[in-house]
Amino acid sequence: MRIAVVGGGPGGLYLSILMRKIRPDSEITLYERGAPTDAFGFGVVFSDETLTVFEHADPETYSQIAERFTRWTDIDIHHRGVRTTSGGHGFSAIGRRELLRILQERAVALGADLRFGCEAPPPSELGWADLIVGADGASSAVRTALARDFLPSLDRRHCRYMWLGTDLVFEAFKFFIAETEHGVVQAHAYPYDDGMSTFIVEMHERTWKRLGLGELSVADSVAWSCELFADALTGRRLSANKSRWINFVTVRNRRWCTDNVVLLGDAAHTAHFSIGSGTKLAMEDAVSLAWAFRSFGDDVVSATAAYEAERRPIVESTQRAAQASLEWFEGIGRYVGQQRLQFAFNLLTRSRRVTYENLRLRDPSFVAAVHPDPRPPMFTPFRLRGLELRNRVVVSPMDMYSAVDGTPGDFHLVHLGARALGGAGLVMTEMICVSDIGRITPGCAGMYRSEHVDAWRRIVSFAHQHGGCATGAQIGHSGRKGSTRLMWEGMDEPLPAGSNWGVIGPSAIAYTPRNQVPRAMTRADMDVVLDQFVWAARGALEAGFDLLELHMAHGYLLSSFLSPVSNRRDDEYGGSLAGRARFPLEVLDACRAVWPSDWPVSVRISATDWVPGGFGVDDAVALSRMLAAHGCDIVDVSSGQVTPLEKPAFGRSYQTPFADRIRSEAGVPTVAVGAISSYDDVNTIICAGRADLCALARPHLYDPAWTLHAAAEQEFDMDAWVPQYQPGSRKPPAGRDRVRAELERTFEEVELLSSDARA
Ligand SMILES: Cc1cc2nc3c(=O)[nH]c(=O)nc-3n(C[C@H](O)[C@H](O)[C@H](O)COP(=O)(O)OP(=O)(O)OC[C@H]3O[C@@H](n4cnc5c(N)ncnc54)[C@H](O)[C@@H]3O)c2cc1C
Ligand SMILES: Cc1cc2nc3c(=O)[nH]c(=O)nc-3n(C[C@H](O)[C@H](O)[C@H](O)COP(=O)(O)O)c2cc1C
Repeated sequence: MRIAVVGGGPGGLYLSILMRKIRPDSEITLYERGAPTDAFGFGVVFSDETLTVFEHADPETYSQIAERFTRWTDIDIHHRGVRTTSGGHGFSAIGRRELLRILQERAVALGADLRFGCEAPPPSELGWADLIVGADGASSAVRTALARDFLPSLDRRHCRYMWLGTDLVFEAFKFFIAETEHGVVQAHAYPYDDGMSTFIVEMHERTWKRLGLGELSVADSVAWSCELFADALTGRRLSANKSRWINFVTVRNRRWCTDNVVLLGDAAHTAHFSIGSGTKLAMEDAVSLAWAFRSFGDDVVSATAAYEAERRPIVESTQRAAQASLEWFEGIGRYVGQQRLQFAFNLLTRSRRVTYENLRLRDPSFVAAVHPDPRPPMFTPFRLRGLELRNRVVVSPMDMYSAVDGTPGDFHLVHLGARALGGAGLVMTEMICVSDIGRITPGCAGMYRSEHVDAWRRIVSFAHQHGGCATGAQIGHSGRKGSTRLMWEGMDEPLPAGSNWGVIGPSAIAYTPRNQVPRAMTRADMDVVLDQFVWAARGALEAGFDLLELHMAHGYLLSSFLSPVSNRRDDEYGGSLAGRARFPLEVLDACRAVWPSDWPVSVRISATDWVPGGFGVDDAVALSRMLAAHGCDIVDVSSGQVTPLEKPAFGRSYQTPFADRIRSEAGVPTVAVGAISSYDDVNTIICAGRADLCALARPHLYDPAWTLHAAAEQEFDMDAWVPQYQPGSRKPPAGRDRVRAELERTFEEVELLSSDARA
């Protein structure tokens, strides 16, 4: 097989090595426009977990690389004149030039034809090759030439950085945080051989502009960095190597292969250097692509497809972590005011890959210093006005679509009752609709008749008497998303013809072409709805709820006023954010006025519509300030469901960064929600100060006693088991292990059965 490799970075070279190893008959021509010693930058860092893959793939290169590794375990954070150390991490680093030298020599020894100083011909001129590999870095010409097939997206990020080196050999991975009058400047530094360390200087584009660094030459920028970080450098110098101020670009491609052309490494995907994974990803890509050829022989199309199928989920997961990390550094100004240890914890857990539990294993004394309380962070109490929650876990609102004429019945008693016994600090109801036409579906619960108040009182009394938790009523109006079917009969689908009721909204714009066009509300309509909210708030009070939540999220009525997607009014209730927020704030004022001043009110918002031109996170921060000024005590931060055109970036804890921003920028307590499923995530979020409470929805459908089980697994004596269940309270960990083992066995059997069936 004849292979043209475009680019002699770590990815292209490692692929050449592995292909020559597994297919000694392959002819490899590698084009590299630079000279063999022409490496930009300084050192590259790998984490310990990375290395076994390379050890197995090619022990020869691995042993040479490993011999030259500089290794360390500590991360030091220098913040406001104090160093905070977290140990047990395990990193290795090597000079980029040294790494390339080892790979080049090995590739030549195995018979690859490396052509340095040679610009690669475009793919259209490489017709002789059976396989063309675009390993030509983040600005890949191969990708550009075939952009219509690969469909790349390039996301230019908001920080400027410069990759520098210093002859000061640090003993740890170091973060130096410098605060200037124009914003924060951070340095990421680590040793990579006996005489040198990498030193990357980074700051928000805004800070970079205000500091006038764009007008300085590279030499002057280096001198400026030396001065800013003089203490860190202890008088040593910084040096440049083809360095300049650049913006990181996150590269993504819809496809990585087309016909006989395949992208690999930075050409296919980039991951911010703060999680140190670019070189690792490029080299792992090479392993996967080479291994695919071992399975598929000369079948280039199948091999490249198998490579993409294997690598894409891993790469996307790394890119999500890198995205969280780069966004954290873009917003570092929000966190520098945190107490020193919390700031350090926040920094270390920024990518979501390192968590409270990881850190406890790596360095128990560090975590004990950050969180000296013997209770895990999730089990610390939290006060909102006169209400003290026993812990930070909230059963998130979940519509059960099981009410009859708005009346919650036995299903609700058992459902909410079970969760009330489950240990959470706060159990929220589903959205309780303020009128019959304010229901989403005919099965939605309400609070617009006296029998509704009585029915809710029965549930709340049970929760208080047996569960010992606080209870919250979420009240809302469906607006233009009303008059639809039960979840399991077709979410957001209109009811069968003849049974629909008329819907209302800020403007006459339907949610989807299938849904009804709402009637644009008049001031008189607003008065009616306002009175309905007040009636429901009073009902919640009479029923005994401890907290009132107004539902201003997910595209329902109040949310649809907030979003420019659904609110196109030209009166004082539309236009600017202040106009769009006017009616929701009137509702908040009216409800706050009847809700006791000693009891808390929360508001759930969609922090982003996930569409260009929609409600965005900046709006959410501004809105949260307004909500707080109108008596809202905590913002429950969800997102989306405002328009079907949304493109959410789902992932673990994907909405938590919004709660974090609102909490730190608007200074309002927040509830984080969305894909938070482990107690470790809850502990991490609370300990880092990203939110004050964590709401979990689907995990509570799986396990009503989620919090009690989290306590048992952490060996925390929660003292919340009802006496009736006490005999089972000491068993869960063992019981769970058994269940898990049984499940694993079952899965293995299923796997065996299905492979038998395939055979
Ligand atoms: C500031 C900074 C710090 C980083 N720190 C780390 C780190 O700590 N750890 C880590 O793992 N990664 C780090 N990286 C990322 C890492 O450098 C890249 O992810 C990695 O080098 C990707 O390897 P690659 O082979 O895909 O591409 P590259 O290393 O970019 O190699 C591509 C090669 O292709 C050549 N080329 C391009 N076009 C042509 C053409 N038309 N003809 C011929 N040759 C061509 C280029 O000259 C280049 O040598 C960092 C990157 C930056 C910018
Ligand atoms: C069955 C179901 C019903 C829901 N009903 C509501 C609701 O009535 N009000 C609300 O604000 N959110 C509702 N949600 C959204 C959840 O409260 C939560 O925000 C979302 O499920 C993400 O959290 P999770 O990843 O922990 O499930 C519902 C979610 C589910 C799964």
